[in-house]
Amino acid sequence: MSLSDFIDIHTHILPGLDDGPNNLEESAALARCYTDMGVTQVIATSHYIPGTAWTASSQLILEKIAELQGYLQRNNIPLAIFPGMEIACHKKLQEHLEAQTFLPLGTSFYYLLEPSFTDSAEFLFHCLDLLLEQGWKIILAHPERIPSLRGMGYPLDEFVRRGIRIQINTGSLLGKFGAESKHVGLQFIESNCVHYLASDAHGVNSRRPPTLEEWLQLQTTLGADVLEQLCCINPAQLLAENTNHQLGTIKIKTEKQNDRQ
Ligand SMILES: [Fe+2]
Repeated sequence: MSLSDFIDIHTHILPGLDDGPNNLEESAALARCYTDMGVTQVIATSHYIPGTAWTASSQLILEKIAELQGYLQRNNIPLAIFPGMEIACHKKLQEHLEAQTFLPLGTSFYYLLEPSFTDSAEFLFHCLDLLLEQGWKIILAHPERIPSLRGMGYPLDEFVRRGIRIQINTGSLLGKFGAESKHVGLQFIESNCVHYLASDAHGVNSRRPPTLEEWLQLQTTLGADVLEQLCCINPAQLLAENTNHQLGTIKIKTEKQNDRQ
């Protein structure tokens, strides 16, 4: 397993839709960060935040992917971009899901849900309860970065048991969002709650994909097996998914984990 097997399921690579790249050139520069490391596949997850300018429609996202993909091809940058969105948790979420406003990740049934940085944890848990009851498939983005989810006993393992999947940011584990995000991210992994590690990259300067040096640092922290599971194997399975099947979380070889697989 090497960095080239990494499939980034959370990246803001599309131009002009959110706080990611402003134009095709900046998107291509971010794409080059991936291909320079040998990475060949990412899922574009532009923000969808109601009440802001970041509310690109599914149609616009698909058009932007086609436009960027053509640009990358013409510039010999061999990166495949799959559709997705990072959907902010909000009051009309269920309504929009039913109206098919949003894109799931790739061809899977899974939607990437961003918890609010300011709402209460209770609001998020209420939303997750409703989504689970209605059968929606959810991957929760970077809970380790959310202040309201820290220090309250981390009831996320119960949601994971019920089918919610968890994505942690590589930057959190590298300490880029502070000591607490790192600590909580590692705690989630050790609690066997995490399915994916992704970059949540926004550009080449700040919040970029992990470098080779950072990849090795992650490997030292987590172990090669865990890194491969969370960055390569589980994302590859997600891209291959078009049905509802079980996926095991992984951390250290524990009885709990073995039971789940
Ligand atoms: Fe993001």
